[in-house]
Amino acid sequence: MIQTPVTSRTKLDNVGTTIFSVIGELSRRHDAINLSQGAPNFACDSELIKGVTRAMENNHNQYAVMTGYELLRQRIAEKVQNVYGRCYDVDSEVLVTASASQAIYSTISALVHPGDEVIYFEPSFDSYAPIVRLQGATPIPLKLVAPEFKINWDEVRATISSKTKMIIINTPHNPTGQVLSKQDLDELAAITRNTDIAILSDEVYEHIVFDQQPHCGMASHEELAARSVIISSFGKTFHVTGWRVGYCVAPQGLMDEVVKVYQFLMFAADTPMQYAFAEYMKDPQTYLHLGQFYQHKRDLMIESLADSPFHIIPSSGSFFLLASYGHLSQEKDSDVVTRLIKEQGVATIPLSAFYTDSTDNKMIRLSFAKDDATIKSGAAALCQARFD
Ligand SMILES: Cc1ncc(COP(=O)(O)O)c(C=O)c1O
Repeated sequence: MIQTPVTSRTKLDNVGTTIFSVIGELSRRHDAINLSQGAPNFACDSELIKGVTRAMENNHNQYAVMTGYELLRQRIAEKVQNVYGRCYDVDSEVLVTASASQAIYSTISALVHPGDEVIYFEPSFDSYAPIVRLQGATPIPLKLVAPEFKINWDEVRATISSKTKMIIINTPHNPTGQVLSKQDLDELAAITRNTDIAILSDEVYEHIVFDQQPHCGMASHEELAARSVIISSFGKTFHVTGWRVGYCVAPQGLMDEVVKVYQFLMFAADTPMQYAFAEYMKDPQTYLHLGQFYQHKRDLMIESLADSPFHIIPSSGSFFLLASYGHLSQEKDSDVVTRLIKEQGVATIPLSAFYTDSTDNKMIRLSFAKDDATIKSGAAALCQARFD
């Protein structure tokens, strides 16, 4: 008999299938309106599709240069320079990756060693802590306190030890929709000054900031830029999450290490997509209006929920907002989400899924990366929610 090796030890205990797959499956079974996933349900610009098709027809179908198609790296560097005023060297400080997820993995894997500690903030995007654990390091979650979900910098200061190797920042923030201010950046700079702490700054929603606020990313801050790997996602910016292309920028000393890992993880991102993005990004208007585009959707969602039983937590960026029901019921958020799918036919995500200890703030996360009809019908279904 052929024997399959038995894995008696897991590297990731307490990790199951992601909540997004679980809710997605339940949502499909009940044919629910899906406000759960952070992926648009509308089409991308057809110019992008034409660009990919053209690249394929022009025979750009083999491995790209490992760090990314040169023109795309140039466009990224131009964008960062124009938007944040920071200059990154096209050859040694810009890396195109196969998704932001992969840039996150490469960065943590390259910079974090066994025994190190990595501070991050919960609620949190789900990949950070498991990737830190896979390095034999310890993730240290600090809680953002509801309903403002601001970082308590005194707590960060008190948590830093000689083992702290990295702080993970995510602004605009998934799932809360909060953004860091210039003052936050100054606090972070002061806390990390004269240390060896690297910053992984997950800025995949960098162009989705509302109410005329600037995006306070690490590239806008000289001192922080010097210790940061800044990560973004073409999937989020151009409504093509399935294409799996992202990038990171970092000073050469950090980038050299990230590239060492990336070359063995992926070698190079998809070639035709890189050609299409390079062509498309020639016009900065393709990404500069994204904030306005999603602000309309945020406002439509809030307006359409006016008669719902939920309290809405203001969202300043990303394409998420939180809705709270704690004033009405103490029901578990995961039970509420399941009930909403089955009873009202609308899928959302329980906020507790973004905590390692399943903290239950009695809140659900809604995605407004949806066409207007879906936003209206999803919100209408949420208006029918009942709490006894
Ligand atoms: C905060 C955050 N970081 C990273 C990602 C992953 O981006 P990508 O699809 O480019 O891997 C997501 C996707 O939902 C996200 O919300």
